[in-house]
Amino acid sequence: MITDIETNKPMPITVGEELIPFKRGDDVGDTIKALKQGKSIRINEFYSDGISLLQDIQKHLKLKLPNKSFQEQHEYRSEYYKLSNLILLEIVDQKLCVKKAPTIGWLEKFYPENNHFFLTLPQIQGMNSAWEWYKNGVSIPGLRNKIHPYYGVYFPTRFEHVILFDNWLKRYKGPKKTAIDVGVGCGVLSLQLVQHQFQKVYATDINPNAIIGLKESMGTTKLSRKIELDIGHLFGKWEKQTELIVFNPPWLPETHKIDNMDEAIYYNKTLFPQFFAEAKKRLLPEGKLVVIFSNLAQITYATTVHPIETELAEGNRFQLEKCYKKSVKAASSKTKRDQYWRSTEEVELWVLTNN
Ligand SMILES: C[S@@+](CC[C@H](N)C(=O)[O-])C[C@H]1O[C@@H](n2cnc3c(N)ncnc32)[C@H](O)[C@@H]1O
Repeated sequence: MITDIETNKPMPITVGEELIPFKRGDDVGDTIKALKQGKSIRINEFYSDGISLLQDIQKHLKLKLPNKSFQEQHEYRSEYYKLSNLILLEIVDQKLCVKKAPTIGWLEKFYPENNHFFLTLPQIQGMNSAWEWYKNGVSIPGLRNKIHPYYGVYFPTRFEHVILFDNWLKRYKGPKKTAIDVGVGCGVLSLQLVQHQFQKVYATDINPNAIIGLKESMGTTKLSRKIELDIGHLFGKWEKQTELIVFNPPWLPETHKIDNMDEAIYYNKTLFPQFFAEAKKRLLPEGKLVVIFSNLAQITYATTVHPIETELAEGNRFQLEKCYKKSVKAASSKTKRDQYWRSTEEVELWVLTNN
């Protein structure tokens, strides 16, 4: 049953009369002053009043904080986070009360019993964009059907690694009885495995929403008998040996406190050593261990350490069969600063075997 795991979702806020109402035409300077004093604001009339207040906060902070060095950017973001999260929206009967507000299906899914509460505007914005992705779905090269990313679950927006894996699967000649997909996310790699005739995929994720989302989307279809899910750290409850293990891990070393979404992006010191030790126990003698990675951390100077190279050099568990690389096309122009390293970004598909 889906209901026996807790979804990760914003905590409903209950407040009394102390909220300061805000609507278009009110003094923005006074409102920002109140926010800076830690007072909460309630958007009273139109959804867009909240959005324009956020823009005014950004303008205000840009004037006050230079936002150039990494440290300044960090200060800017944390101040923006603090102020914007004091802007609240009222929800009654699973709908936003303000006029011209988006319809967000998560409200019904996540708070079926809670008929009156508040959420912050940034939380609503996050839910809104996640709902759009979920509703419209995302096409993945090589997959027959769109995926519908669940709230708070990583999904790919660039696909070079998906293509690398697809090409590798096309050439793979080994047995296709079982595979383990560690950190299944929205299920992209598992779906590729099934499409390439793997009979059974055992998948895990540490993020409950990934498991809930996939259970929901697979329902009782044939797919749900091919992909078995477990919420848990690394291999979860899957103990049996298998001919193929795949892992598309977080690509960056952790720099700050990790919340659930960040676990898709940042890894801590123990993740890779533990993963390789556990993978060793579960890989059949002739099996393949496929790890997807990227040079992102190295080209952005986040670290010089490459966890897979470290494992090969020091782990004494696996040897390299082959590493395939594919350069990543520059994403739609973000900032000039990003552009120079984007041009050298490569994704990597590491194929390891027992030594
Ligand atoms: C980069 S995403 C990849 C998702 C998916 N496999 C794909 O390729 O689209 C990494 C995934 O690993 C999960 N994850 C991170 N640490 C984990 C751990 N210790 N055990 C299991 N899953 C983990 C994250 O929640 C996230 O869904």
